Amino acid sequence: MSDLRTTYMGISLKNPLIVGSSPLSTRVDKIQALEAAGAAAVVLKSLFEEQVRIDAEAFEEDLARHNETSAEATSMFPRLEHAGTRTHAYWVKEARKAVKIPLIASINCLTDQQWAEYARALEGTGVDGLELNLYSPSRDTNTTAAQIEDREVKLLDEVRKAVKIPIAVKLHPFYTNLPNFVKRLEDAGANGFVMFNRLFQPDIDVDLEVKRARYHETNSDDALLPLRWTALISGQIKAGIAASTGIGSGRDMAKMILAGARATQVVGVLLREKPAHVGRMLEELTAWMNLHNYKNLEAFRGKLARVNPGDPWTFSASQYVEGLLGLG
Ligand SMILES: Cc1cc2nc3c(=O)[nH]c(=O)nc-3n(C[C@H](O)[C@H](O)[C@H](O)COP(=O)(O)O)c2cc1C
Repeated sequence: MSDLRTTYMGISLKNPLIVGSSPLSTRVDKIQALEAAGAAAVVLKSLFEEQVRIDAEAFEEDLARHNETSAEATSMFPRLEHAGTRTHAYWVKEARKAVKIPLIASINCLTDQQWAEYARALEGTGVDGLELNLYSPSRDTNTTAAQIEDREVKLLDEVRKAVKIPIAVKLHPFYTNLPNFVKRLEDAGANGFVMFNRLFQPDIDVDLEVKRARYHETNSDDALLPLRWTALISGQIKAGIAASTGIGSGRDMAKMILAGARATQVVGVLLREKPAHVGRMLEELTAWMNLHNYKNLEAFRGKLARVNPGDPWTFSASQYVEGLLGLG
C-alpha cells in the first residue's frame, strides 16, 4: 500500500489533496463531505474585506430601518465594523469543531490595516493555518512592480508578527520576477505558497456586445503554468508549494509532485464532479505510484524539477525552440 502522507506549511497531511478556497467550503456539511471523501485538508472560502464592507453597509441600512421603528433595540446590535469578521469567525469555529482534518482559513483585504486584524480573528478560531489571498489588482500606470511587491512583503510581515500559526501565500502568476518575490516572502516568514490562484476572467459576448461575468472551468492544460513554476522554484526554497489550477486527476497530482510540489489544491473538478471525485483522484495517484514502484511521495518528489539534472532547460525555455520540440 502506498504511503501518501506529506507535510505542507509544517502541517502533516494524510495525502497531498487539499480542497482549495471556493464555494466547496462555505458550509460545515460541505466540509464534512470533503473529509468523508478523503480530502487531506480544506482551505475555507476567503474572508474578503470587500464582502465584509458590503455586508456592513447592508447591515447599516437594516439598522437605520430598524431605528425608525424601535430606538431602544439598536444597542443589541454588534459594532458595525466588526460584524462580518465575527460572523465569519463564529462559522469557522463551528467548522473546526465538526471535522478532524486540518482547516486553513483564507483572507483577502483591500486596506493594509485589516490583514493583521483578520488574521488574529481567524487564528482565534483554532484553524491550523492561514492562507493570504494576496491579489489586489493594480489598475493604474503609476505604481511600479517594486512598490506592489514591497507592499505585499510588508503585509505578510505584519501578519507574521500578529499570529503564530503557519502562513501560506496564494500567488497569481503575474509577478515580474516570481522566484525573487517568493524568496522575499519566504524570508518574511511564509511557510507555504499556493501556485496559482486562478483570477476571475471576464469575457465579452461579441454578438450582443456586452460584458460577460462567467466561470470558465480549468483543465489539465491550465496546469502547465503552475507545473513550470513549481519545477523552477521548488528546489530554491524550503517552504512547500501547493500546486493549484487545472488539477483534476491523480496523474495531474503525480506531475506536480514530480515537479517538486508538497501538495496540490483542487477546486474546479470537484465543483463539477462532487466530493466523491477526491477518492477517485487518490486511487489514481496510488495506482500510478504502484506502477512506478514508488512507496511514498518522497521517492519521486522533485525528480523532474529543474534543479534535478539531466535536462536543465525544459522548464527554463520560454520560446518554442524547434530542437526542443523535435520539430526541426
Ligand atoms: C467559484 C469560485 C470561487 C472561488 N473563491 C475563492 C476564494 O474565495 N478565495 C481564493 O483564494 N480562491 C478562490 N477561488 C480560486 C480557487 O481556489 C482556485 O485557485 C482556482 O479555482 C483554480 O483551481 P482549479 O483549477 O482547481 O479550479 C475560487 C474559484 C471558484 C471557481
